[in-house]
Amino acid sequence: MMEERVIKIFDTTLRDGEQTPGVCLEAREKVEIAQSLAKLKVDIIEAGFPIASPGDFEAVRQVAEKVKGPIIAALARANMKDIDAAWQALKKAEHPRIHTFIATSDIHLEYKLKMTREQVLEQARNAVRYARKFAADVEFSAEDASRSDKDFLCEIFTAVIDAGATTINIPDTVGYTMPDEFGGLIRYIRQNVPNVDKAVISVHCHDDLGMAVANSLAAVRNGAAQVECAMNGLGERAGNASLEEVVMALNTRKAYYEATTNIATKNIYRTSRLVSALSGVNVTPTKAIIGDNAFAHESGIHQHGVLNNSLTYEIMSPETIGISRNSLVLGKHSGRHAFEDRLRDMGYELDAEAMNSLFGQFKALADRKKTLFDRDIEALITEKATDKPEWYRLVYHNVVSGNQTVATASVRLETSMGVLEEARCGDGPVDAVFKAIEAAVGFPVQLKDYQLKAVTAGQDALGEAITWIECDGKVFSGRGLSTDVIEASARAYVNTINKMMAVCDYSVQKKVVGGNC
Ligand code: KIV
Ligand code: ZN
Repeated sequence: MMEERVIKIFDTTLRDGEQTPGVCLEAREKVEIAQSLAKLKVDIIEAGFPIASPGDFEAVRQVAEKVKGPIIAALARANMKDIDAAWQALKKAEHPRIHTFIATSDIHLEYKLKMTREQVLEQARNAVRYARKFAADVEFSAEDASRSDKDFLCEIFTAVIDAGATTINIPDTVGYTMPDEFGGLIRYIRQNVPNVDKAVISVHCHDDLGMAVANSLAAVRNGAAQVECAMNGLGERAGNASLEEVVMALNTRKAYYEATTNIATKNIYRTSRLVSALSGVNVTPTKAIIGDNAFAHESGIHQHGVLNNSLTYEIMSPETIGISRNSLVLGKHSGRHAFEDRLRDMGYELDAEAMNSLFGQFKALADRKKTLFDRDIEALITEKATDKPEWYRLVYHNVVSGNQTVATASVRLETSMGVLEEARCGDGPVDAVFKAIEAAVGFPVQLKDYQLKAVTAGQDALGEAITWIECDGKVFSGRGLSTDVIEASARAYVNTINKMMAVCDYSVQKKVVGGNC
């Protein structure tokens, strides 16, 4: 029997995950997610690609400075300029890692890099040597490894390990490989890279054919000691291997894999919710582990079985990932102690100031809603996390609508430049309130999408609205919460505009506010 290995979890939510179309995280949000990932006890957080933009650089710098515990990695192409930027952003990290990469498949060499294999090998070796001047921890990735010539891969990995790479990463960049094949590739590399024992073998799989998790696990069976993945499976195109699935597969089938991870699984659910709220990417109900239906039993036969013994239809318990089965219901008579206890049970640790403000919101909500469930409390916390420094504050809204009248809305917004008030008619109350807000801010807002859903069941359920708006080619999302769905929608719209104002370039801000900022 093999000894149980501890597989390192390298989280790339903030780098590859942020490359998900429509996802745009600002530095403050990246730090918040990184702090949650640190509590989840991931081994490595890839915080971004510093050369890509000043915003990305700043986000990596802040994560490196503020987040303690995990190794903080930054991505760099295999050249000095990228590596310099990565190091400048990373240098204050407790445990910095430079992650440098170059493509190795012939198709990338011919059509993208226009380089020979010899040139790529030389550039990879030089990049790793250069990165080692700054950091003792250097990862090298062979982009499109799964479509590369196996012997060339072995040659390049041998060279970069000699040059000082401490981790070699084997990406299935385009999600092309099948599990047996990918497992075989890892075995081949282990057998044909003579100095392989001097580096950690890592894998990084994309989900184009839905194989990312299966491929990552096949790699673990064949000797990979690090898996790169993203929360909720975010990432380029069909996404990366999803962290929660890789971790829970290893956790649930520990004996089969003879491997485990350091992950504090109880923090999976709330980290997933935070990532979903801040990225604006919803989790589908049937998504494994973290989807709304993942632990729901609809059929009578299943319900009966689970009531007798949960093992009949549950291979893992919801509590393992931080969902409580029998959550206590709170209401307007619940005191601060009960509220704080509930939050602690749900895995949230808040400082006194955040607790005070959340308790105030809880009381205000309890006045409008008879019973409050965990999902309501979680929604309040998420709304707080997505709350932006406010350019515009919604002070007041009034809507008149009905089947015999044209919907009309008036709004009042507060800004540092004074109060803005406008009224507009619209195609229904939501359209009217959005038009009034747009008139008040004084620039066109490009609404891409709008979604409204109930957080829990019941007539007095909290409504959660999400809006997506586009500015300068970027898509921003924001949410709003209220028992009144029009108010939730108005708050979401203003929240999204605030988010856009915080991230868009100064020139764009100037353009949209007509030189007022
Ligand atoms: O998919 C990929 O190949 C990557 C590398 C940069 C690791 O994201
Ligand atoms: Zn990738």
